[in-house]
Amino acid sequence: MLGEEANTRLAQRIERRLDTCGLRERKTLEAFDFDFQPDLDKALIQQLALLDFVRRKEDLVFTGDPGTGKSHIFQALVVRACEQGMSVRYARGVDLLDDLYAGLADGTYRQRLKHWTRPELLVIDDVGLGQVRKRDDEPTAAHTLFNLLDSRHGQASTAITSNIPLSAWGRYLGDTTLAGAILDRLAMRAIRVHIKGPSYRQQVAKDRAQALGAKPDDDRHQPSAEAVDSDASVDKPCHER
Ligand SMILES: Nc1ncnc2c1ncn2[C@@H]1O[C@H](COP(=O)(O)OP(=O)(O)OP(=O)(O)O)[C@@H](O)[C@H]1O
Ligand SMILES: [Mg+2]
Repeated sequence: MLGEEANTRLAQRIERRLDTCGLRERKTLEAFDFDFQPDLDKALIQQLALLDFVRRKEDLVFTGDPGTGKSHIFQALVVRACEQGMSVRYARGVDLLDDLYAGLADGTYRQRLKHWTRPELLVIDDVGLGQVRKRDDEPTAAHTLFNLLDSRHGQASTAITSNIPLSAWGRYLGDTTLAGAILDRLAMRAIRVHIKGPSYRQQVAKDRAQALGAKPDDDRHQPSAEAVDSDASVDKPCHER
């Protein structure tokens, strides 16, 4: 009976963590079709899912073609981390930056920065997607992100996915020098993976069109964001540590 109660309490704690970590969807690696993405190193992903990189306070950076599963894999890692009792926060890059900017406006920047600095694992998803705010009276997005990553660096693990090549971060974040400093810190310890392959989104769209009896039409179903990463080859290729 006591064991049962303990199990229920543990399940409740995990559920609470999953509810509050910032995830909108709970993805799993079990639902990930590795056969669809043959260039992706399945063994490496399974090893990452053991979360030893979090215990070692290492950073993780995934770049690559759109729709290849970067966010799916990271969201699955967040679920695993919650289940293992780690403190973890997930946010899309633009949402995290918006939150910190809101802190500048209402005087809660320090608290908010702490909130993002504390967790053992912070996942910043889809850096490069969405417009970052630019106002003359505010620090650049690069400055804000730099502050956060600098305070976490070597203290706790940060995992980032980017839809644009790292070489385009300066332009995206509005400060080439600071973006360079961020990448320098990330590159020092990060485990880097670049996924080159087909888009699962496009495949789903094609399957749906076929199921409806329509002729598959690549151009019509291609999300416009896909064009953003045409320069992905600038990044170093696959599974580099
Ligand atoms: N190999 C896969 N098996 C199962 N589902 C997948 C796979 N790859 C992607 N998906 C699904 O396809 C959708 C798009 O994937 P995801 O958002 O992870 O791609 P992404 O690489 O982050 O793309 P983007 O660069 O545009 O952010 C999601 O719903 C995801 O669950
Ligand atoms: Mg993504």
